[in-house]
Amino acid sequence: MRTDTGEIIHLEDYRPTDFVLERVDLTFELDPTETKVEARLIFHRREGVSADAPLVLDGDELTMTGLLLDQEEIAAANYDAAEHTLTIRHLPAAAPFEITITTQINPEANTTLMGLYRTSNVYCTQCEAEGFRRITYFPDRPDVLAVYTVNIIADKASTPLLLSNGNYLGGAGMGDGRHFAAWFDPHPKPSYLFALVAGDLGVVEDTFTTLSGREVALKIYVEHGKEPRATYAMDALKRSMSWDEERFGREYDLDIFMIVAVSDFNMGAMENKGLNVFNDKYVLADPETATDADYANIEAIIAHEYFHNWTGNRITCRDWFQLCLKEGLTVYRDHEFSADQRSRTVKRIAEVRHLKAEQFPEDAGPLAHPVRPTKFREINNFYTTTVYEKGSEVTRMIATVLGADLFKKGMDLYFERHDGQAVTIEDFVACFAEVSKRDLTQFSLWYHQAGTPLVSASTAYDAARQTLTLSLEQMVPPTPGQSSKEPMHIPLRIGLLLEDGTEAQVTSVSGAEMTGDVLHLVERKQTVVFAGITSRPVLSLNRGFSAPINLHFEQTPADRAHIARYESDLFARWQALNDLALPNLVAAAASAKAGKPVHCDASLIDALLAAAADGDLEPAFRAQALSLPSEADIAREIGGNNDPDAIHAGRQQIMSAIAKAGQTIFEKLTDEMVVSGPFSPDAASAGRRALRNTALSYLVYAENQPARAVDAFNAANNMTDLSQALTILAHRFPESAEAAQALATFKARFADNALVIDKWFTIQATIPGAAALNRVTALMADPLFNGSNPNRVRALVGTFAFSNPTGFNRADGEGYRFLARQILDIDTRNPQLAARILTSMRSWRSLEDVRAGHARNALRDITAGKKLSADVSDIVERMLK
Ligand code: PHE
Ligand code: ZN
Repeated sequence: MRTDTGEIIHLEDYRPTDFVLERVDLTFELDPTETKVEARLIFHRREGVSADAPLVLDGDELTMTGLLLDQEEIAAANYDAAEHTLTIRHLPAAAPFEITITTQINPEANTTLMGLYRTSNVYCTQCEAEGFRRITYFPDRPDVLAVYTVNIIADKASTPLLLSNGNYLGGAGMGDGRHFAAWFDPHPKPSYLFALVAGDLGVVEDTFTTLSGREVALKIYVEHGKEPRATYAMDALKRSMSWDEERFGREYDLDIFMIVAVSDFNMGAMENKGLNVFNDKYVLADPETATDADYANIEAIIAHEYFHNWTGNRITCRDWFQLCLKEGLTVYRDHEFSADQRSRTVKRIAEVRHLKAEQFPEDAGPLAHPVRPTKFREINNFYTTTVYEKGSEVTRMIATVLGADLFKKGMDLYFERHDGQAVTIEDFVACFAEVSKRDLTQFSLWYHQAGTPLVSASTAYDAARQTLTLSLEQMVPPTPGQSSKEPMHIPLRIGLLLEDGTEAQVTSVSGAEMTGDVLHLVERKQTVVFAGITSRPVLSLNRGFSAPINLHFEQTPADRAHIARYESDLFARWQALNDLALPNLVAAAASAKAGKPVHCDASLIDALLAAAADGDLEPAFRAQALSLPSEADIAREIGGNNDPDAIHAGRQQIMSAIAKAGQTIFEKLTDEMVVSGPFSPDAASAGRRALRNTALSYLVYAENQPARAVDAFNAANNMTDLSQALTILAHRFPESAEAAQALATFKARFADNALVIDKWFTIQATIPGAAALNRVTALMADPLFNGSNPNRVRALVGTFAFSNPTGFNRADGEGYRFLARQILDIDTRNPQLAARILTSMRSWRSLEDVRAGHARNALRDITAGKKLSADVSDIVERMLK
């Protein structure tokens, strides 16, 4: 196997650059295949750096056509242009000097979607993490902050719109059919936040007045004709701007804020200063084509990128090891925003479901790494759910440990102290330690130790003494490169519920620090005694998922049902229902495997149906309560030697049992939860649709025939209802004429809308069972499929591998071999995309032996590929280690 690079980069090797970059002046002469870039860079030698140290710049796939020092050509003997670096020697010892570099690049041929590329005839850049070096030679690292001026020249007719970061300086025609525009960004920024967009696009415009009275022009650019689908994004943007002022005291700092939606993008979106670039999936929405989940995602991602203006841009990362400094914190901020805009409990449930489904498996498998890693080979592979979602959980725990007021003080100090700097996690944590006077050394292990802590708990009630004794023990499992772990500071929110559902009035606690309802677990083993408890209480542990842990706490079904019924913390109620369901689902998988009948406890059915029928609970919560743990959740609970077919079969039978017992309730809900009037994506309406569709799905289990879903499909007047009905038909009756008919209708109706066709691909790629692979293969030949568009590839190949446990994990291994071939193919065009989809195999070691053997062989097939990218070889090697 050959790879691009193999070098491992270590955090401990960090040192600042030898030269300080003062200013950047860029001129782009745009051309689809021959774009010329002139970069004028003003540097000076950092104090104390030896006078003969050379300037070393990063580069990638560049053709250099000129190199000047203070406008004089540099002699060939004084520089070396290697594949990834440009080294210039004999530079001034102290005085500032100007380096002028001219490069030529080919945007049309750039399929990696890093650097400058073309998407639907639009020029677009993506520079995070290391894309700027594909535009010009540069000190391409986040601790090099400079002020940029950008001149863009292009053909006026085909490319009327010329955008870059900062404020618009001016522009004009040039007489030769070309025109130019100049932009100036006064805020020093690292190169990864640079952006340029040029093309012919439509726009939605608005304005926002900041708290201090600055008027900001807001513009969202989309393909012509799609403007009406950008109004929700604009609304979300304005709400984000107000919220950041109110909640974090952060105002916007330029005259203009722009968002551009493009259809070819590797990630969700990018926070370039003043010019965010978005995957159009997270901008475009209307009732006919977007689901409630799409609306919620748009709101969250618009907010996320906007919030980066302070957490990421004004204060950025010293090096890429600190990625969670901006990402974990910004995810926490967007989570809080959505919680304030919608239902806090329902939002928290969705977050925890996502965390457990994505981050917990990563933390338990070969790709596990600390939130703040200390080494990497390919930084692109560290935009992970651990850095993002666990990083957010760690930020949330700081708020839990300190309390809201001190957390706010710490954030204020962080903004004040580090504005304009590139800093580290230690700098961030120090702000909270300082304002709270708490030692956060042990807490910081959350950044440094990988693996999900396991907390084991048991309780004993002493009626005579009126005490409850809680014994806690924590264990952090070994992860790659970290065989033994120190005990962590785990903040556990708790409640003690009495028989009548009220909370026990505890008179004293010994054995642990308590702050409010937060118990601080800091030792490997800790025994905590609660006094003044007049009758046996039920302990509700880890309320609100205050710590991202696995909990081993043997509670009786009756105690869990008690929590599900009485907890004042609604998240804990959902958690209790989940805890009631899991043992049933695990047992069901075992029964299915053994060919025995599946049994479902009455306590589970009763608790679920009680929640379903409880009109005091909001519909969105009830929908979450009724959604059983996923097949992946069950596999994680079983822990090893997994048989996806047995898990699937067992879960289906539990669903049927609940469906039959609850038929009347579900019928009633489908009537009650009809949403009348014009479509609105608000959280309350979305909740009613969610509950109604959940009830519908149970009814189809109970009836075991497609009629009701066909009616729902025909009656649907919005994409949420339509796609839910189609999913039920396709997943439950894949071979039926009804499913075929509905799929054909859907395709014909939306053939010209790629984002909706992605749903059509996804629904079919996730149909359970061994036949899925043939379907996916056939769909790849469909004219609507496009193997070079990331959204299409993710919708079909990605969801098959990530979200179709029975189809992908076929016992004959064909699913893995298919994926290996796809990865090798995608890797030739877009290494980042290939590496990302390959992580779908991260839990292969927890499969039963036959499947695990096939999976290992498929991974080995990938390593045998002729020329693997650094991205894919890094992932595959770690997975096989
Ligand atoms: N920084 C982006 C975000 O989280 C994600 C991203 C990373 C986008 C790398 C593109 C490339 O908001
Ligand atoms: Zn981000």
